[in-house]
Amino acid sequence: METIDYPHFVTEIPGPKARKILAQDEKYISPSYTRSYPLVIEKGEGVVVTDVDGNRFLDFTSGIAVCSTGHSHPAVVEAIRRQAGKFLHMSGTDFYYEAQSTLAEKICRIAGFREELRVFYGNSGAEAIEAALKLVRYHSRRPLVLSFMGAFHGRTMGALSLSASKMVHEKGFAPLVPGVTHVPYGYCYRCPYNLTYPECDIHCVKWIKDDLFKRVIPPEEVAAVFVEPIQGEGGYVVPPPEFHKRLQSLCQEYGILYVADEIQSGMGRTGKMFAFQNFGVEPDLFTLAKGIASGMPLGVMVAKKEIMNWGPGSHASTFGGNPVSCEAAIATIDLIENGLMQNAAVMGAYLMEQLRELQKSHRLIGDVRGMGLMVGIELVTDREKKTKAIEERNRAVQLAFDRGLLLLGCGENSLRLIPALLVSRPEIDKGLSILDEVLTELEK
Ligand SMILES: Cc1ncc(COP(=O)(O)O)c(C=O)c1O
Repeated sequence: METIDYPHFVTEIPGPKARKILAQDEKYISPSYTRSYPLVIEKGEGVVVTDVDGNRFLDFTSGIAVCSTGHSHPAVVEAIRRQAGKFLHMSGTDFYYEAQSTLAEKICRIAGFREELRVFYGNSGAEAIEAALKLVRYHSRRPLVLSFMGAFHGRTMGALSLSASKMVHEKGFAPLVPGVTHVPYGYCYRCPYNLTYPECDIHCVKWIKDDLFKRVIPPEEVAAVFVEPIQGEGGYVVPPPEFHKRLQSLCQEYGILYVADEIQSGMGRTGKMFAFQNFGVEPDLFTLAKGIASGMPLGVMVAKKEIMNWGPGSHASTFGGNPVSCEAAIATIDLIENGLMQNAAVMGAYLMEQLRELQKSHRLIGDVRGMGLMVGIELVTDREKKTKAIEERNRAVQLAFDRGLLLLGCGENSLRLIPALLVSRPEIDKGLSILDEVLTELEK
């Protein structure tokens, strides 16, 4: 069996060089960032991160699902170098360059829609969401939108208004953009209506039609529904199989646009190029960022051609669709299509299977859920009552770090496992054995 020699520590953590940088950071950087542990990266390669003191970590975060092809994949680095040597910027909003249209053509092809699509470029997930929010209003001339409890769409004012993930995101920033109503998501482990799938008949979607649209919100004034195919920051929540189809039918009934936020779930992570493809729906608009350019900043909003009917000057961004980011994205898509997506499906299934095994011996694991390499585990202190293990989750992240495994939380009491799409079986086994140790320690 292939063995791996990481994680591997050569100093205490944080080491002397890291401590210097942490002190400097504390002095100068905004205190709004949420660092869970003191990792100071020097170099990344695949799923291995080396810190400034030479300690090596196994990365099951991919820089929050961004480094989809692994840290500094040679093909992506080469594409970046090539483009950087030609030109760095020429504002695609006012001039033309090939990388923008070539990437757009690729994105339209991998979406696999019958209809023609059009692509808008920004620099981040939130910008892609802002663009979608503006476009749905512009196109429909309707003022209202729906989004979901637990959703996270970003932190700019429009994206924040659509989000309903954590109070700390919202508190102190009112008033937000008006016209947004949050409705319960298809979160079966904690069904907001206390029902059980499949007997529930997807009550969470029916409720929108039978109650919300009858008593509170006139559906003909709703421009769009914004939905994550799988909720990310909210806790890696996979809705029931029919959820998205039912939601889309409801949208079609009232002429409401269906917007899929693929910023965390897209780009091969779930074993398909886009997570909505797992649910048999074709959104009217979708948004991409994070994994699309393997770490270079890029946000993308894609819409059906007839929906993207805004004219010149109505929306743009100076840096949006930067040529270096576009070339990184082209290289990223090539890698995803030529093996990484397949690996995500196979390794993801293996990871889920192994986590379900682990669940048998760890009472803290309440639920294991995910698709491909978008995998979450929800920790509970009591399986019957499903009491949220908030403190234990936070300690689990720290204990994993102490053992060299980089993890992130999501929701109040869940852990997410999102290694790069090229992760190997020995690397998954290593991550799982550390997780096993961590849970054992917490259950003592
Ligand atoms: C589903 C989803 N949408 C939007 C965003 C916001 O992206 P960004 O942080 O690039 O603005 C995120 C970030 O976590 C996300 O997970």
